[in-house]
Amino acid sequence: MNTDILVIGSGIAALQLANKLDSQYNVTIITKGKMNDSNSYLAQGGIAAAIDQSDDVLSHAFDTLKAGEYYNLPSVVKYITKMAPTIVKQLIDQGMTFDQIDNQLILGKEGAHEHRRIVHAGGDATGKYMTESLTNQLSEQVKVYENSFVCELLIDHTKQQCCGAIFIDSSGKSRTIKATYTVLATGGCGSIYNFTSNHPMALGDGVVLAHQAGAKVSDLEFIQFHPTLLYSNNHTYGLISEAVRGEGAVLVNQDGLRIMENIHPLKDLAPRHIVAQTIYNRRLKGDEIYLSIKQINQFQNRFPSISQMCTKYGINLSDGLIPVTPGAHFMIGGVETDIKGETNVCNLYCIGEVANTRLHGANRLASNSLLEGLVMGDELASHLNKQPKIPIPERIATRSQLKVPILPNLKLLQNSMMENVGIIRKREELTNQLNWLHSTIQSNQQTNINMENFNKYVAYKMAYLITQAALKRHDSLGCHQMAEHETSINTTESREYVEQV
Ligand code: SIN
Repeated sequence: MNTDILVIGSGIAALQLANKLDSQYNVTIITKGKMNDSNSYLAQGGIAAAIDQSDDVLSHAFDTLKAGEYYNLPSVVKYITKMAPTIVKQLIDQGMTFDQIDNQLILGKEGAHEHRRIVHAGGDATGKYMTESLTNQLSEQVKVYENSFVCELLIDHTKQQCCGAIFIDSSGKSRTIKATYTVLATGGCGSIYNFTSNHPMALGDGVVLAHQAGAKVSDLEFIQFHPTLLYSNNHTYGLISEAVRGEGAVLVNQDGLRIMENIHPLKDLAPRHIVAQTIYNRRLKGDEIYLSIKQINQFQNRFPSISQMCTKYGINLSDGLIPVTPGAHFMIGGVETDIKGETNVCNLYCIGEVANTRLHGANRLASNSLLEGLVMGDELASHLNKQPKIPIPERIATRSQLKVPILPNLKLLQNSMMENVGIIRKREELTNQLNWLHSTIQSNQQTNINMENFNKYVAYKMAYLITQAALKRHDSLGCHQMAEHETSINTTESREYVEQV
């Protein structure tokens, strides 16, 4: 079968792209679960945009750079933060409703932001409202394959270009889809860790597929751990948004001691990696950590989904304490692209979390990820809408056998990644993990591909790439914290820095 544009994944970046492509294009979406099985759907916080009169785009850019430890690409930071108010306005014009009071958008606050600038919906269910709104806008001409997964990208080696994919459809049948342009919008990989805020299917498919096809990947050592996942009996149950701390919640230990005092000038709203690392160190010393929500009036009205989740897992909100621990949240690195998602493989694009535009630097600023996905989807649509229609190649060599190695269960991988490639890393543990992953993936025993064993294959491969990247970076920077190397917290750079770039 043929399509003009093949989109793999169904999160915010994929939906934005599909909605903005010209109707002349025949578009096909392939997604691993149902349309709303994505990290975008689970997003609580919102979209960061300098909308308030007291705010400005340079301040948003500066906060992004500071949180990213200045490892970001300044031109990308400036462009995406500049686009943010326009993107929010476009969404509203298209029918999206963000939370308002007296016809004014309510702007939330999150970690490392100088200003209140997060637009949100349903209190703490922004992702759900946004993905539903964008899915409803999809044209009927967009063909969707749910419960289907891509197991290989098609590469025309004579022309060095991507021309579609092989996928397994919901009935388990292998199919070839040729495409003029192929777009990976597969999200991140948090579910290769046992503590995560991510959807279980977020295992790194896009990075693994693109890497196999010859695309450059980078910065994979920067896995962002969100400081506050609901925690009970050695299990995590989902995210407690940073917006909760934005409204005044503070992190305390079992004695009620505030743990972020004297750690960073922004205390509980310090950049995420600093808060996650502080909790991690406290827990190592035997502390239990809680989010004290005693300062927040009408918690259940402002955070209805979080309240529901807490109640479901037996937390009595009237105690004012939610037990928390950090968990894998966001893949900062990924496939190297520019703002429109162009990779080094001709006709292969990556947008959203799978892409590494270097917006986020070494640690992502809260609520910049939906923003990045929306801007990239928009940019890629404008680019493709200007391209001439080129014919789809007729003959493409494909692998004759769709097989993957037989691998141990996912739980084993998830526990070992949390232990050895987690919030604070040690060289020896990274080395042991890499050796273990190498020998495991090399297993001579092969099996036919199905969803379960392909997921395992992707997760083990992704874990290998992350561990390898972590070993290559000797120093500590942002989310990549080596026990042997302290980082100094950079708070001295001035706003002029952003103005100059
Ligand atoms: C949150 O709500 O804390 C997560 C928002 C984000 O990761 O940007």
